[in-house]
Amino acid sequence: MTNNLITVAYIAASALFILSLGGLSNQETARQGNIFGITGMLIAFVATAFNPAVNNYGTLVGAIVPAVIIGVILASRVAMTSMPELVAILHSFVGLAAVLVGISNYLQPNNGLPAGEELIHQIEIYIGVFIGAITFSGSIVAFGKLRAIISSKPLMLPARHGLNLLMLAATFYFGYTFVGAEEMTGLNSLLIMTGIACLLGIHLVAAIGGADMPVVISMLNSYSGWAAAAAGFMLNNDLLIITGALVGSSGAILSYIMCKAMNRSFFSVILGGFGEGSKTTVASGEKQEVGEAVATNVEEVADLLLEAKSVIIAPGYGMAVAQAQHGVSEITKMLRSRKVNVRFGIHPVAGRLPGHMNVLLAEANVPYDIVLEMDEINEDFSETDVVLVIGANDTVNPNALEDPNSPIAGMPVLEVWHAQNTIVMKRSLAVGYAGVDNPLFYKENTQMLFGDAKANIDSLLVALRSKTTKTSNKVLVNA
Ligand code: TAP
Repeated sequence: MTNNLITVAYIAASALFILSLGGLSNQETARQGNIFGITGMLIAFVATAFNPAVNNYGTLVGAIVPAVIIGVILASRVAMTSMPELVAILHSFVGLAAVLVGISNYLQPNNGLPAGEELIHQIEIYIGVFIGAITFSGSIVAFGKLRAIISSKPLMLPARHGLNLLMLAATFYFGYTFVGAEEMTGLNSLLIMTGIACLLGIHLVAAIGGADMPVVISMLNSYSGWAAAAAGFMLNNDLLIITGALVGSSGAILSYIMCKAMNRSFFSVILGGFGEGSKTTVASGEKQEVGEAVATNVEEVADLLLEAKSVIIAPGYGMAVAQAQHGVSEITKMLRSRKVNVRFGIHPVAGRLPGHMNVLLAEANVPYDIVLEMDEINEDFSETDVVLVIGANDTVNPNALEDPNSPIAGMPVLEVWHAQNTIVMKRSLAVGYAGVDNPLFYKENTQMLFGDAKANIDSLLVALRSKTTKTSNKVLVNA
């Protein structure tokens, strides 16, 4: 492939990546966005493989074929609830790749650059390896925390901020010795810095508590983008620079949006457990009794739903675990056919990954126009007859607004308790992800429908069907 053709291919791939991000920002265009992304990546891959500089096809095929097979098997088997773990481990690969590219780039004999450019090239290598190493080790710790291999409690070492600063100072020192070094004599500095950056990555992410993990994952996503962009500078590859910058900036924007949704300070999370980010996770799990929870049953809930004119469904992690979305979609269809105004209220961090609930509801063919964001629906609860909270907990916890001492204080939540009737479907009164008790369960207008969400939703559907058939039979007999 000629250089001109490669440039054209890279421009086309970059445009497709931008279109892909645009498409992914809206549920209705998300599939198309994915197709743009896949096409862009295929073009980029083919153009790179046929670059005149690539001549060892044996190694290329030997590395890519097993990687593709492993990737396809892993991605097709992963449960939606484990997606953040997969994303975290994939980020660690990007980080590791940036480190290896940087070190091998440095070891490349005589790159023929003039002195000024050589200096810039060395700085690129040093920064790229630094970001890559932090991303690599930080992502592995994030993976461990999400998998519960490592405790999700924040690691609070004494003088931890001092420790971080010390590691940063050492990084600057070795950077100074690396950049000034002749030929390849800076290798030791580069390797020592890599070790320090790995420790820094471990320490930064270990200091972040479980409840802040969603933000950490999107931040590591951002870091992995910058690591890829840095690798692009080292390899003089424009496409890698553009793609890395797109991933880096979109990850940073997503982190910012999630911080706002969880009422976390962006910098407290970025800097690893500074300030309020840490207090959330002292997830005690202890329950403060605030009254008595009233249990209900499927028949009663079916009656309530059949009498209702407006219903809002607030799904959460439990709906995902139970895989209750298809039954929920059937109930929605049925109530809508009876002219009940059914809508969904989606909290930005419901579930375990951004957009988790939207993906499940789309998979179950729930129409997009009745799936509303928290801000769009929060004011409507007071005019709603029945709210079905399906496996959600932290995202509907009134303490976030009412108790300034609560670990989730200040986090905007779905204000489901304003409805006439709130039905909470979960298996017990146990705490959610943030480990805090939920006074919603003890409110006067709340009733608990205990049990697995899928089993209860399926029984509810059966009860609704039998009740509506009976009513229509009665109408026919009377007629
Ligand atoms: P959670 O607060 O995690 O609560 C989920 C509830 O589902 C649990 O209390 C559990 O109660 C119930 N549950 C579990 N399995 C169930 C089943 N089979 N059937 C019925 N109920 C079941 O959920 P949420 O309201 O969606 O909040 C999400 C939390 O995760 C937030 O704290 C958020 O910060 C955090 N987080 C979010 C993300 C993203 S990006 N979305 C990523 C990581 C963490 P029982 O055990 O009593 O059934």
